[in-house]
Amino acid sequence: MKFTRNPRYQDLRNEVADEHAFFNRRQALRAAGVATAGIALTTGVACSEPQQGGPTGTSAGSAHPKPGAGIEASPTKWKVSDDTTPEDAVTGYCNFYEFGTQKTDPPRYADAMTVSPWSIAVTGMTDAPGTYTVNDLVDYDALEERIYRHRCVEAWSMVVPWVGVPLAGIIDKLKPTAEAKYVEFETYLNKDEMRGVRYPVIDWPYIEGLRLDEARNELSFMAVGVFGKAMPKQNGAPLRTVVPWKYGFKGCKSIVRISFTDKEPRTAWNKANANEYGFYSNVNPNVDHPRWSQASERIIGGRGFNPRRETDMFNGYEAQVAHLYEGMDLTKNF
Ligand code: MTE
Repeated sequence: MKFTRNPRYQDLRNEVADEHAFFNRRQALRAAGVATAGIALTTGVACSEPQQGGPTGTSAGSAHPKPGAGIEASPTKWKVSDDTTPEDAVTGYCNFYEFGTQKTDPPRYADAMTVSPWSIAVTGMTDAPGTYTVNDLVDYDALEERIYRHRCVEAWSMVVPWVGVPLAGIIDKLKPTAEAKYVEFETYLNKDEMRGVRYPVIDWPYIEGLRLDEARNELSFMAVGVFGKAMPKQNGAPLRTVVPWKYGFKGCKSIVRISFTDKEPRTAWNKANANEYGFYSNVNPNVDHPRWSQASERIIGGRGFNPRRETDMFNGYEAQVAHLYEGMDLTKNF
């Protein structure tokens, strides 16, 4: 599909208007209610032939908690000293272009997305291909809370208490072969449920990818919730990746396929504009986006008027990830 215009440019120009609209509508966006906890039993790992994932699974796939249901998670060492972003900002100011390009479109329209039952197709260079339920991949009895910095390439940031499991454990379970070097993630796509995919903003479906050593890094996370509740649809229910040292778009929402490959994945934004969105997209205050600076960031939901902070190398996670890029020129491998 031909890329006709650059929606990011449009989006950036709309940023401030977007934020005002969001904060004016804040009260209205408060979550209507929270269902009671409903944590289901973990089932065994499925190993049928891979099919298309998404809400096409069997009834076994319906076992994961509904968006907004309370889920228990253990605290971890992963927290930051800055204030956690208010919940209504995290769930009300979103990027999920499948539902529209305005920040308030996903909270408004994502309710149309079916998230249960749900299955994830596992394909490519793996010894465990198949169709998996969310519970096959995520042990709901071992959930962790990780309060991570969340930095968008649009130069805004949040601090978000994600709930989920380390991605490394899921990768191990899915047994990539020795030749596999990368993992690719694909988002659910349904034009009847996702009003934004009528427009060729990107070449749908949304695809993201990581080098396998990045995916196995201790920070890489498969999130199934936020603020102690199962993931709201607008934030990527039922499961999405979180890679906190990279720009937020490297996290893939509402995952229906996980694929292993020996070739660098053609990711959605990289396909749309390779000069602007590199495969790595590590947060780097020294490498500006062609059209805007990455040196600082606007704190969404922060106290005061348009508060900003300086952007940290690797979003503050240098100690955990710098070794992954040793010897690489990060101005070229941006
Ligand atoms: N995943 C899909 N499928 N579609 C998207 O539009 N947006 C990305 C990322 N994952 C996006 C996506 C971007 S640009 C960011 S910053 C984060 O999701 C935003 O996550 P949040 O809305 O939970 O803050």
